[in-house]
Amino acid sequence: MVKSELKDLYLDELDKDMWEEETLPFRRLMSYYSCAVMEIETKLRVLNEEFSLEYDKNPIESIESRIKSKDGIIKKLKRRGLPVTLESIEEHIWDIAGLRVICSFPEDVYMIEQCLLEQDDIRLIQRKDYIKNPKPGGYRSLHLIVEVPIFLKNQKKWVKAEIQLRTMAMDFWASLEHKLCYKKDLDEDIERAIEESLWIAAETCYKLDQDMEAVRRKIQKE
Ligand code: GTP
Ligand code: MG
Repeated sequence: MVKSELKDLYLDELDKDMWEEETLPFRRLMSYYSCAVMEIETKLRVLNEEFSLEYDKNPIESIESRIKSKDGIIKKLKRRGLPVTLESIEEHIWDIAGLRVICSFPEDVYMIEQCLLEQDDIRLIQRKDYIKNPKPGGYRSLHLIVEVPIFLKNQKKWVKAEIQLRTMAMDFWASLEHKLCYKKDLDEDIERAIEESLWIAAETCYKLDQDMEAVRRKIQKE
């Protein structure tokens, strides 16, 4: 091997080490959020299992989870004029660990919330009920910011996560609205008409939820 090749090899190794050292604290922090997602997902699955055994019903249709990307985190910090540091991430960004719980009926959303929050190793930090108070555009969901402990080699660390709970009908609306509005660059009049159509569609979805819930109550009464 000639000398210059040796030098390149050495530099490559050096860059790799430096890169690992610089990114390790960030990757470590992200791994805490992954652990929080696992903890909460397990809690939800245990609840669903218990309900399916005891009451023969599955209040949870599905659970989705994600960890916010590095780009997403940096964008949010900059948008809010906050410093781009690990401390700032931990303190201000509460939706790095995100879970979306799709329930069958609106009542199930609140029942799952109650069961979850009654557990003694989960702390409620913030609650936004966009089901009782939908957003002006028509968006409905129950948003919880919680903290759960994760047990590391020699410490217990409380980690924040965002849980969005909604019905299938609310999820149907939110997913399509997100898709439609993503590419929005429209004339003002058309935009207003679209907003109105989306709002009506959101109300229709909610009516559907209530109708299905009424049917369930009737069946339960029998
Ligand atoms: P973010 O900076 O987006 O996290 O907003 P926030 O901190 O004010 O929280 P908020 O409770 O308003 O909503 C957070 C999340 O809820 C968003 O990232 C979306 O996933 C969802 N969401 C809120 N509003 C809407 C909406 O109008 N349409 C759709 N499709 N999703 C929404
Ligand atoms: Mg968010």
